[in-house]
Amino acid sequence: MATAVTSTVSFPSSKSASLPSRTSIISPERISFKKVPLHYRDVSVGGRVVSVRAQVTTEAPAKKVEKESKKMEEGVVVNKYKPKEPYVGRCLLNTKITADDAPGETWHMVFSTDGEVPYREGQSIGVIADGIDKNGKPHKLRLYSIASSALGDFGDSKTVSLCVKRLVYTNDKGEVVKGVCSNFLCDLKPGYEVKITGPVGKEMLMPKDPTATIIMLATGTGIAPFRSFLWKMFFEKHDDYKFNGLAWLFLGVPTSSSLLYKEEFEKMKEKAPENFRLDFAVSREQTNEKGEKMYIQTRMAQYAEELWELLKKDNTYVYMCGLKGMEKGIDEIMLSLAARDGIDWLDYKKKLKKAEQWNVEVY
Ligand SMILES: Cc1cc2nc3c(=O)[nH]c(=O)nc-3n(C[C@H](O)[C@H](O)[C@H](O)COP(=O)(O)OP(=O)(O)OC[C@H]3O[C@@H](n4cnc5c(N)ncnc54)[C@H](O)[C@@H]3O)c2cc1C
Ligand SMILES: NC(=O)c1ccc[n+]([C@@H]2O[C@H](COP(=O)([O-])OP(=O)(O)OC[C@H]3O[C@@H](n4cnc5c(N)ncnc54)[C@H](OP(=O)(O)O)[C@@H]3O)[C@@H](O)[C@H]2O)c1
Repeated sequence: MATAVTSTVSFPSSKSASLPSRTSIISPERISFKKVPLHYRDVSVGGRVVSVRAQVTTEAPAKKVEKESKKMEEGVVVNKYKPKEPYVGRCLLNTKITADDAPGETWHMVFSTDGEVPYREGQSIGVIADGIDKNGKPHKLRLYSIASSALGDFGDSKTVSLCVKRLVYTNDKGEVVKGVCSNFLCDLKPGYEVKITGPVGKEMLMPKDPTATIIMLATGTGIAPFRSFLWKMFFEKHDDYKFNGLAWLFLGVPTSSSLLYKEEFEKMKEKAPENFRLDFAVSREQTNEKGEKMYIQTRMAQYAEELWELLKKDNTYVYMCGLKGMEKGIDEIMLSLAARDGIDWLDYKKKLKKAEQWNVEVY
């Protein structure tokens, strides 16, 4: 029997941009998927409802599946589009998802692909900004983790979404410098073209096992691949995947005004309280009992025993994405935990990596 999909997404944006209302593209302020019969679901954005065809939605068995290397997984496409011949998509919507008083801006954007950029949850795409560099050459591509599930935010497998932080910094000479591609993307208006390469990457592909424990560690825009995982787990119905394990997300951001996709994650928690745990580490507002800054690893340390027990299971998978610095901090926590059991963490981590249970993409 066909089943239902329910989710509500709202972007707390003050400066959002979308195509004019006469087009079929809708304001990004609110996207919600409502229960519908058969293979269609209603996508309501900005108060208007559009019916889109959903995936076939038969019940899937939630039993543990045999481990298979994600590097060998069939049907994963890499490098379909290269810089010399990129796919040219269009921006469908672009909205700021951090509040005005947040330190820095992060934007959520959706591009059309017409189904021509087939990607899996956990992959990235390249973007080539318009214009030329200081040598008069086209800009080099920059990589961005895909923030939508393979079905895309509109459920029709014809879009790809990104979560991009606008890079602005002051250099040694006191000049304000704007990052080329992040500013190009954050300024992109609906209807504008965007050159896309890829998709790329296999490190962050999801485990197939629907009973797995998936621990997701994100700082800032490192949330992107996990939004993609979590949509597949909790907002969609698939005939070959029905998540029934434990998803545990730790998200580290500087301020509560920079929390990303909070409403979506809370909605997921409401839908599946037994299968989803959600912990935020707000570094500039929270501290631990010793008064130390609340980084993601500081939050994890509060659940040290539980995390360590989970890590001993052969179907627990850890994924880390975001700032490079977080890896060291997390290693320090794990080192002390493992030592209590007389285990050398670095050795243990090597084994986990080999078994594809420890997956890292930091930059
Ligand atoms: C696999 C992967 C996935 C990624 N996913 C995402 C994502 O999902 N979202 C996202 O926002 N980003 C992501 N990034 C980062 C992204 O690729 C770009 O690096 C980022 O957007 C900056 O690019 P830019 O063109 O704006 O900056 P550029 O014009 O390339 O400028 C960046 C350069 O500026 C300099 N610089 C930067 N900060 C400072 C500073 N504070 N002081 C002095 N110099 C500085 C450094 O030399 C740096 O190399 C990802 C990177 C990788 C490798
Ligand atoms: N696939 C990938 O490789 C990938 C994907 C997406 C993003 N990224 C990268 O991830 C980074 C995310 O940055 P952002 O600007 O989006 O994040 P952000 O909003 O600045 O948030 C980062 C959070 O991490 C904290 N932090 C700083 N140093 C840390 C450390 N050593 N250990 C743990 N936490 C630490 C920050 O705290 P304070 O600021 O208070 O110190 C802040 O709370 C970018 O560099 C982006 O390029 C990589």
